[in-house]
Amino acid sequence: VRTRVAIVGAGPAGLLLSHLLAAAGIDSVMIDQRAREEIESTIRAGILEQGTVDVLTGSGASDRVLRDGHRHDGIELRFDGQGHRIDFPSLVGRSVWLYPQHEVLKDLIAARLAAGQDLRFGVSALHVEGVDTDRPSVFATTAGGEDLRIDAEFVVGADGSRSVVRSAVTGSSTGGYFREYPFAWFGILCEAPPSAGELIYSNAPAGFALISQRSASVQRMYFQCDPEADPDAMSEAEIWDTLQARVPGTTLIEGPVFQRDVLRFRSFVAHELRRGRAVLVGDAAHTVPPTGAKGMNLAVADVVLLDRALRALLLEGDGRLVDEFAETASRRIWKAQHFSWWMTSMLHVAPDASDFDRRRQLGELRSVVESQAGRTYLAEAYTGWPLEGLG
Ligand code: DHB
Repeated sequence: VRTRVAIVGAGPAGLLLSHLLAAAGIDSVMIDQRAREEIESTIRAGILEQGTVDVLTGSGASDRVLRDGHRHDGIELRFDGQGHRIDFPSLVGRSVWLYPQHEVLKDLIAARLAAGQDLRFGVSALHVEGVDTDRPSVFATTAGGEDLRIDAEFVVGADGSRSVVRSAVTGSSTGGYFREYPFAWFGILCEAPPSAGELIYSNAPAGFALISQRSASVQRMYFQCDPEADPDAMSEAEIWDTLQARVPGTTLIEGPVFQRDVLRFRSFVAHELRRGRAVLVGDAAHTVPPTGAKGMNLAVADVVLLDRALRALLLEGDGRLVDEFAETASRRIWKAQHFSWWMTSMLHVAPDASDFDRRRQLGELRSVVESQAGRTYLAEAYTGWPLEGLG
């Protein structure tokens, strides 16, 4: 097939990009190796920055976020037996929205299919050719084993952390700035009423826990665990004991655990984000550890920037924004990398932490919550830097 933009990956980045491009009259073909049901049911994070919500609603991609999502005006940091609320509106005049990523995906897929988007599930990209020419191509294969070739004017790698497009951009599938962490999150979904009205990020001596929510009857909670932990090895009673011990001061309302997973912690930024007529966005370009919920929000920021650059290139023949894409996107990416690393390191107990490290960490938390400037920095980053300048 022939199109203007070939988009590999129908996650939040690819879907939103096709939506924004279509609004400017730019056609795209999008492929994803997964089935639609898998994309719509994979459990990911649940916090949307104000700017992400503005893009989703302003572009007509989702109004359900405002109806079914919940605005959160703050979070609590808990340590040393006490909770400290960070009040977003009074600090930065913005809020965040609790609305699960797979709900965003359902909205975007429905909107794209209703608009007649060429969106093919179960199609795996194999490799990309011609990125240094005006006619790059994606070579792919369908679930049935048929070859598919997409000839385009631009190729977008929105194909996640195991990106196939990445090697055409960086010269290798792994080349990037990389960091691992000596812990992971054990995440659960349970059937219970909320234990707290807002998110609680708790640094307890036994390790970190995050109390999040989903709805009046479903809750999402996480606790720090060993990266090699087997999610099925713990009984429900052990899960509740572990969570409860890490949020002293709150009595968690327990209920049946119907979903459990272990989330790996990684920080990654690809060495190159663009080469010729191919770019990387979202997890294909970068991965952040989950603390602070920056992953999808950063993907949306990449796409807002790329949409502008592609409109300039494909509608006006002006390649300057595409030329600047990597540098502009990097500024926000590294701020988000820093924030996610900072929240992670401030809130988790490293397995090799000394008494000094532990006390220093509590001093750091105290420095943040007792300072208007500290709370303001956290609120700015958590609710998201403005998308206009793309900070
Ligand atoms: C959720 C996940 C996060 O990583 C986070 O920082 C906050 C909330 C969630 O899934 O609800």
